[in-house]
Amino acid sequence: MLLDKVIGGYLDHLFEGWEPWMISLASSCATVILIISYNFLFQDESLFLRAKKFVLRNARRIPAVRNKISQEFDVSKKRMENELMAPTRNLGSIRALPQSRSAEEVLALAKKYKETESADWSKLSGAIYSGSDEITKLSTSIYPMFAWSNPLHPDVFPSVRHMESEVVRMCCTMFNGDEKTCGSMTSGGTESIFMACKAYRDYALARGIKKPVMVVPVTAHAAFEKSADYLCMGVRKIPMDSTTCQVNLRAMKKAIDGRTCMLVGSAPHFPHGIIDQIGEISALGLKYKIPVHVDSCLGGFLIPFMEKAGYPLELFDFRLEGVTSISADTHKYGYAPKGSSVILYRNHTYLHHQYSVTPDWPGGIYASPTMSGSRVGASIASAWSVMLYMGEDGYVKATKETIETTRKIKEALKKMKNIYILGDPLVSVIAVGSKDFNVYLLSDAMSARGWHLNALQFPSSIHVCITKRHTKPGVAEKFLQELQECITNIMENPPKEDTGMAAIYGLAQSIPDRTIISEMAWAYLDSCVALPGSGS
Ligand SMILES: *Cc1c(COP(=O)(O)O)cnc(C)c1O
Ligand SMILES: *[C@@H]1O[C@H](CO)[C@@H](O)[C@H](O)[C@H]1NC(C)=O
Repeated sequence: MLLDKVIGGYLDHLFEGWEPWMISLASSCATVILIISYNFLFQDESLFLRAKKFVLRNARRIPAVRNKISQEFDVSKKRMENELMAPTRNLGSIRALPQSRSAEEVLALAKKYKETESADWSKLSGAIYSGSDEITKLSTSIYPMFAWSNPLHPDVFPSVRHMESEVVRMCCTMFNGDEKTCGSMTSGGTESIFMACKAYRDYALARGIKKPVMVVPVTAHAAFEKSADYLCMGVRKIPMDSTTCQVNLRAMKKAIDGRTCMLVGSAPHFPHGIIDQIGEISALGLKYKIPVHVDSCLGGFLIPFMEKAGYPLELFDFRLEGVTSISADTHKYGYAPKGSSVILYRNHTYLHHQYSVTPDWPGGIYASPTMSGSRVGASIASAWSVMLYMGEDGYVKATKETIETTRKIKEALKKMKNIYILGDPLVSVIAVGSKDFNVYLLSDAMSARGWHLNALQFPSSIHVCITKRHTKPGVAEKFLQELQECITNIMENPPKEDTGMAAIYGLAQSIPDRTIISEMAWAYLDSCVALPGSGS
């Protein structure tokens, strides 16, 4: 992914300038060499690691070191911006409102912008889950009918109000809820997760818990930590079992205390595509009277159909008594265009804590169910239309094809030498690692052939997220063939030293001071909204 690549370029450069200069600091010299060598990736937080952290953190307090870092940052930031802007370099940039143009002119310009995108969708990992011509046509026909609609005004737009209710109800049924099950539509998975965290924070506060803490597997989506950050909640991260890649239940149980406001399990999680032990987490929730959220953002429109598609799973939904909420993304395997997701609760007790009400506002009594005020009615209408178009049979068929393709790829990967699969993925994501070579060399090699794979860390691995695009004839075969060729190449001609992503990922994981990584990510985000030469 781009962020990884960009941070990579950054790190690469940052550390380039360090070594000769740091050598003059005799006391720090040894430490810096240690930082630059990344052969000690998976050590626990030993005295050694803590010492490294300490030295690095304090080295950054020395003004000369700080200046040096800041200089390198500036140079690296420029490089990063150049890389991000390269595809649109020739478009010029609009910096102030222009003289008005005709609609034809604007459309022609948009077309020119669009031509800078060239990715082959069948070579992506996730990102575009269907994007079929039929669904594109349906969504773009629905859009103009609802472009101005806003669920904030249900009296003006009763149609969209009704559609949202139907989408929520269809999802409640998919996840085996009853007549009490309820929920909302949101703008995406992150907002769905955010709303669940907000609901459980306020539910805990109402029960007298002073500083609510969420108990979350490390493999759960980053949106949980992000929500905790926004909502001033505590987080206890629970390690995964290194063999199954499921959450370590014993550690989860031990982490529960009087401040725990929610337990989380994923079905499946993003990194390795593994479904946590939802049944056991649900039981923990019941035993300790703590709500349980099941994050099914990724798999929410696959796993409910897997039994009918011939791939039965253990229970993961409202049939488990302890499960109090489920998030599912209509804009992933629901195949709707981007901008919609669903959050469901066992009953209104939880949903009410999601709501926000401002009773005394001079603008009126203001009540809204989710983050947004005005909401995009057209997103709701698009999701609704795609769900009706697909129908249950359509989703079962799509699930069958997607899982069939994934299982075929999984079996072939199992047979390949020099790589191994992390855990036993049952849905649509497969992560691989290697004991024989730096696995990021493999994503580098595949990316040179146009295939996008996701780089994972802790442990070093990469994954592919299989979508409807990969089920087309020949795509899986081509993927496997090119992957095997890349592995063979790497094994036959092992690089003397790692370059590109391979070097960078090792380095990024070995830097003990994570604030450096955060600062680089800020610069990356800055670059995402920069124009050429804007000096911002
Ligand atoms: C994608 C994803 C999310 C977040 O969804 P967004 O729509 O990107 O905000 C949450 N959880 C899992 C498991 C996901 O794969
Ligand atoms: C909702 O479910 C919880 C248990 O998960 C229960 O304690 C609560 O009373 C229920 N509320 C309603 C309105 O049924």
